[in-house]
Amino acid sequence: MNRRIIILVLVITSLALGGIIFSQFFWMNKSYHLRREQFENKVRIALKSTVNQLMEHNRADMHSGCQSFCCLSDTNIQQTIHPDLLDSLIRHELDYYQIPLEYEYGVFNCARDSVIMGKTGSTEENLLQSPLFTPLSCLWKRNCYNLGIYFPGQQNYLLGQMGVWFFGSIFLILILVSGYFLTIFMIMRQKKLSEMKTDFMNNMTHEFKTPISTISASCELLTQEAITSNPEKVKKYARIIFDENNRLKGQVDRALQAALLDQQTLSLNLEPTDAHEAVNEVITNYGVHFRKSHKTLFVNLNAEKTIIHADRHHLINIIANLIENGIKYTEGEPKITVTTWNDDSGIFISVEDNGIGISKENLRQIFSRFYRVSTGNVHNVKGFGLGLYYVKTLVDAMNGSVSVQSEQKKGSTFTIFLPFSCEKQ
Ligand SMILES: Nc1ncnc2c1ncn2[C@@H]1O[C@H](COP(=O)(O)OP(=O)(O)OP(=O)(O)O)[C@@H](O)[C@H]1O
Ligand SMILES: [Mg+2]
Repeated sequence: MNRRIIILVLVITSLALGGIIFSQFFWMNKSYHLRREQFENKVRIALKSTVNQLMEHNRADMHSGCQSFCCLSDTNIQQTIHPDLLDSLIRHELDYYQIPLEYEYGVFNCARDSVIMGKTGSTEENLLQSPLFTPLSCLWKRNCYNLGIYFPGQQNYLLGQMGVWFFGSIFLILILVSGYFLTIFMIMRQKKLSEMKTDFMNNMTHEFKTPISTISASCELLTQEAITSNPEKVKKYARIIFDENNRLKGQVDRALQAALLDQQTLSLNLEPTDAHEAVNEVITNYGVHFRKSHKTLFVNLNAEKTIIHADRHHLINIIANLIENGIKYTEGEPKITVTTWNDDSGIFISVEDNGIGISKENLRQIFSRFYRVSTGNVHNVKGFGLGLYYVKTLVDAMNGSVSVQSEQKKGSTFTIFLPFSCEKQ
């Protein structure tokens, strides 16, 4: 799919998802406020009813009803209203209105600076600021007093009442959001993989084209009388065909190797293998190459214990891949250093170069299948992006590990570790 269409679809679906989540929260919030309002109304009615009952009680005690309280001071209030009575009236009213919550209550003046009497928690502030209060004006006409109440567990109680719907919605939203991001992540990954596969196909076609056209041109020449009559020329073109054919074979082998790794049909021929012998074999193969051109190879075989349980054929390929990369990704004269050393459990083989290096973002990806660092048109280096994938897969299969240190424009060091015994612990 076209990149712009993907981005457009992502933006639209993200907005739609955001809209759904927003409206869900909007309705949940609205429903919460509605419940709170209902709750508060019930509490206010209960408080009013409490005050009425309080008045009834006091009327029985006093001769002139409300009037007798007109000039009461704070101290009088404490004496006039018995706390136990007030508490039991409130409890009774709350029970009547089916409000089973713990509460704090108190009488405070309208300035709301302190609670004159009542039952508060660790701080009076919550009670003084509570919107749940009713005036006591029928008891004290001149002075302004309120009876207030505060429920510490009110929010949880209301949320609990919304229960299944509230937590169910949050749960479904979480599933929706994680599913959405997982899908985006997978689409991106698939897209990247498909781009890398396309690159791979392009590279492969390109790599095959050159030897095929060389072979074809050589064959055509070999059909000409002037060439066939000259055995030297026949030999020369036959050699070209042979070499190019070998090159083709090597490339097909690598592509097949990658396909095999993909199907996880990897079978290893594990046997006691001398790691130094494997390194030497690769160096001998590359020796001609190094002698012919301005390339330098340093070898420090420092390991003392060199016999490991490994697949010899793959070990040689692994080392060859690392040396080949070192040469390929160096712009000037390559200086490659192969070093080996031991620790208690196995052998380390490192291949260091003075090449172009790898940036931090790319370092994490170079072991992925088909991944090639994009260099624009600057470095025209051919490859399939399979070498390091092969290295990592095989080293992992032998229970070893591979690491890389690199700095751009300074060089890279790839280090593989292979245990003496590759039995899984
Ligand atoms: N020694 C190195 N120095 C700098 N870059 C490197 C080095 N080794 C690998 N890379 C980067 O990592 C990428 C992946 O390497 P890998 O060996 O997997 O593929 P390739 O060399 O492109 O192709 P192939 O090995 O399949 O022919 C390369 O394209 C290159 O950009
Ligand atoms: Mg390579």
